[in-house]
Amino acid sequence: MTTKHPHRHNNGIHKPSSQSSSATQTDPSRDTHTLLHAMLAFLLTPLSTLLLAALSTALTSPKSPTSPHHLFTFGDSYSQTGFNISLALPSRSNPIGNPSFPGWTTSGGPNWLGYLTTRYNTSLVLTYNFASGGATVDAALVAPYTPSVLSLGDQVRIFTDNAHLVDWRAAGASTFAVWIGVNDVGNSWWMDDETARVQRIIARYFELVADLYDAGARRFVFLGVPPITRSPLVLRTSDAPSRALEDSVIATFNSTLSTAARQFATTHADAHVYVVNTTPAFATALDHPEVYGAPDATCFNEDGRSCLWFNDYHPAMAIQGLVAREVARVVGGVWGA
Ligand SMILES: *[C@@H]1O[C@H](CO)[C@@H](O)[C@H](O)[C@H]1NC(C)=O
Ligand SMILES: *[C@@H]1O[C@H](CO)[C@@H](O)[C@H](O)[C@H]1NC(C)=O
Ligand SMILES: *[C@@H]1O[C@H](CO)[C@@H](O)[C@H](O)[C@H]1NC(C)=O
Repeated sequence: MTTKHPHRHNNGIHKPSSQSSSATQTDPSRDTHTLLHAMLAFLLTPLSTLLLAALSTALTSPKSPTSPHHLFTFGDSYSQTGFNISLALPSRSNPIGNPSFPGWTTSGGPNWLGYLTTRYNTSLVLTYNFASGGATVDAALVAPYTPSVLSLGDQVRIFTDNAHLVDWRAAGASTFAVWIGVNDVGNSWWMDDETARVQRIIARYFELVADLYDAGARRFVFLGVPPITRSPLVLRTSDAPSRALEDSVIATFNSTLSTAARQFATTHADAHVYVVNTTPAFATALDHPEVYGAPDATCFNEDGRSCLWFNDYHPAMAIQGLVAREVARVVGGVWGA
């Protein structure tokens, strides 16, 4: 194993400089349009109409179709938006709460949960995102690139500590989605006893899922690890045999995840459990970059649009959108693809 050249990634991009530039933030995407229209509509509505709307909402049952759906998300940089639960909570005016939509992502624009919140939603979705760049499931099993990263365990604890802030427990009113594993695999695939390590990681993962269940969560979505071996970084730093080994670890992680999810569904009969395979979303774009406006499958650009990659390890908007579409297709309910 000494000949391997493991790539340890700095996944903790907190606020890419381009994120604050008007070039990426004010891009006239469908999402910002929708949001702007909603805000304009609000500003232009006479006060009496608003009061009437408030009154009729108050008179209907809390399960009326107008009550928002709550989406709670957990993960790493592929999911991060920089949400801080101590600041503004998600609302009609900013459905991810803080910072302003789409948040501090690593895609050059919205990421999958941004698209689920504003593009594939069939009603109002309010998203509470606990993802932290560089996260692994448990730092004691696979260390993140720096100790300040919030692991999945830390993220779940922050959620349970703050779960009282939001009224999310009505039946069918909330979904819990976890997309993690890129760093668990990326920081350990070359090590000895990797298969046993993956078993321990997934066992810990589902202890944390049980914590969510105990807090009242009943609708779960688990996203598999995508083919990160097709990222520009791995293609540049790993030879074919190393990539094949990493691919086999990804396959083991995903199959172990799927098995654990099935078991969890069996032992928690009132839970709705969905596993989303992210491989086709990546392959759809990477196999046909030209269809998605990119010259090839390996260029990267922080504009988030002209290449399939935002940087050498993070997918840009097209792939993130395809991941969201797949989640919407598999989960359905308040999402339509
Ligand atoms: C979140 O916001 C609170 C209140 O402003 C602040 O004290 C805290 O440091 C913030 N947390 C992070 C991780 O930025
Ligand atoms: C989807 O979410 C956006 C942003 O919150 C909202 O403006 C829009 O009305 C929602 N779509 C539907 C069909 O409710
Ligand atoms: C997991 O990864 C393997 C290998 O890349 C892939 O073939 C499989 O479809 C993935 N499964 C899920 C559920 O993500």
